[in-house]
Amino acid sequence: MDLKFTNLGGHMAVAVDGVDFRQPPSEELGATLRQALWDNQVLCIRGQNLETAEYLRAIQIFGEPEIRPEIPHVEGFPAVTTLSSEDRDVHGDGKRLVAGANWHSDDTFMARPSALTALYGIVVPEVGGDTQYANMYAAYEALAEERRAYLDTLRVVHTMKPARGGLVRSRSIAPEILAARPPSTHPLVRTHPETGRKALYVSRNRMDRIVGMEREESHRLIDDLVGHAIQPEFTYRHKWQQGDIVIWDNRCLMHKANGDYPEGARRFMKRIIVAGEVPV
Ligand code: OGA
Ligand code: MN
Repeated sequence: MDLKFTNLGGHMAVAVDGVDFRQPPSEELGATLRQALWDNQVLCIRGQNLETAEYLRAIQIFGEPEIRPEIPHVEGFPAVTTLSSEDRDVHGDGKRLVAGANWHSDDTFMARPSALTALYGIVVPEVGGDTQYANMYAAYEALAEERRAYLDTLRVVHTMKPARGGLVRSRSIAPEILAARPPSTHPLVRTHPETGRKALYVSRNRMDRIVGMEREESHRLIDDLVGHAIQPEFTYRHKWQQGDIVIWDNRCLMHKANGDYPEGARRFMKRIIVAGEVPV
């Protein structure tokens, strides 16, 4: 297979042409794509035209797909959920829902948050609907040494129900699902299990408080880190092409959805999350 890699964001994100996941991926292809992901944090596999089963098989080269029952899924494939411009908040006020419109990392409220997330662009809008990424290795490394040493000591309580007011609305969650998801405490700086590099681990709306700190002060510190991390030199904005599979690493990135496509424009993605580990 002839692979062509193209750098997308300068300091992060790479696209690969020449992959066809209609064929079962070889060990060698799997190893090459995993390395590209560890090196670039975001990997865009272009030009795919897949059945759901082929997509699911392909993503298994990166790890074990996980199930989150609260998200609508493709019939017969509980591990393949859907993100659609037609989504409405069925447990809340029924209004249009843009999942992930705040800067975040996926599922940080879990004891073992998902390591990776894949989105497959089946229908993409002509204008808008980009996904943005912030490189949390780079954001961490740019801080003064003293500041890094202090942040290294902090732990944060994460909850599924957004702890913060005044943020962009998100999916309302059924009470029985909330009850089954107790808070988790994670380090504010985590070490990536594949690369050994340290990264800020921040997901603002899930972060209830820093252990040993008042809520207000906790939120100020977190907001400050978010403001730092989303500066242009740490970020990449992905403009979707139909047939893109974009897979990203939640352990060293924040990301953000944009619901800025016009009313009536369609966006439809198939989403798979890959199991992660306890952050350390
Ligand atoms: C997600 C997410 C961003 C987007 O699927 O976790 O945040 O642009 N998606 O849809
Ligand atoms: Mn997300």
